[in-house]
Amino acid sequence: MGDMSQIRNIVILTGAGISAESGIETFRSAGGLWENHRVEDVATPEAFARDPNLVLRFYDMRREAIQDKQPNPAHFALAKLEERWPGKLLLVTQNVDDLHERSGSRRVLHMHGEHLNAWCTSCDVRSRWTGPLFDRPPCSVCSARSLRPDVVWFGEMPYRMGEIYAALREADLFVSIGTSGAVYPAAGFVQNAVELGAQTLELNLERSQGSHMFHESRLGPASQVVPHWVGEMLR
Ligand code: OAD
Repeated sequence: MGDMSQIRNIVILTGAGISAESGIETFRSAGGLWENHRVEDVATPEAFARDPNLVLRFYDMRREAIQDKQPNPAHFALAKLEERWPGKLLLVTQNVDDLHERSGSRRVLHMHGEHLNAWCTSCDVRSRWTGPLFDRPPCSVCSARSLRPDVVWFGEMPYRMGEIYAALREADLFVSIGTSGAVYPAAGFVQNAVELGAQTLELNLERSQGSHMFHESRLGPASQVVPHWVGEMLR
């Protein structure tokens, strides 16, 4: 990479790989979620309209599964970087788990939503939700039985894109951690960052689809490569 002493503003993108060592399954690895489920059956608005019970049960299981999982050293390292970094730092995650928050990160944008939120399609209010949705519980605000997972499905617009692109325009360094680079618009952030003149770094178990676009790729498990990189940044 280029001159690291010039770096002030950092944007970090995380994906399922950062939570893999916490025991949350990724999507595209062998045995991952999308090997055992068809995206079109469980993660689209059409699937929800066609078979809401199937979709609600799928997300109830995911919501339950994350609640006994713990952040790993990669999450904690990013929280430490945010706390100590003198410039701006924005953490953008595609993950719907809450392990970044539970490890202490405060500026986190969940571009694909959050498992622990329910969204009422009647009154449009989002609220924290830890239990099941399959049994059609009433919305705590309007009482309508119209709650759905507050998770972005394929074909829906990811959240917070304006803020994310604004941060990318200011970024001196873009870091992508534990994501396969298969899903846009997140997969395109590296190209935006390069075009805007930022340094780009990938930390991943293996090369991602857009790996060639990064100035540097470091391969290894997140619990090792992320704390190592954070140590360098805070030296
Ligand atoms: P994927 O499952 O597509 O990719 C996970 C990436 O993490 C892969 O490149 C793995 O090599 C890497 N990985 C696995 N274990 C790792 C470890 N211990 N340390 C570091 N890296 C590791 O997950 P995402 O890229 O996050 O969207 O998937 C993107 C989106 O596709 C998700 O947000 C979800 C999914 O469909 C929606 O549901 C809208």
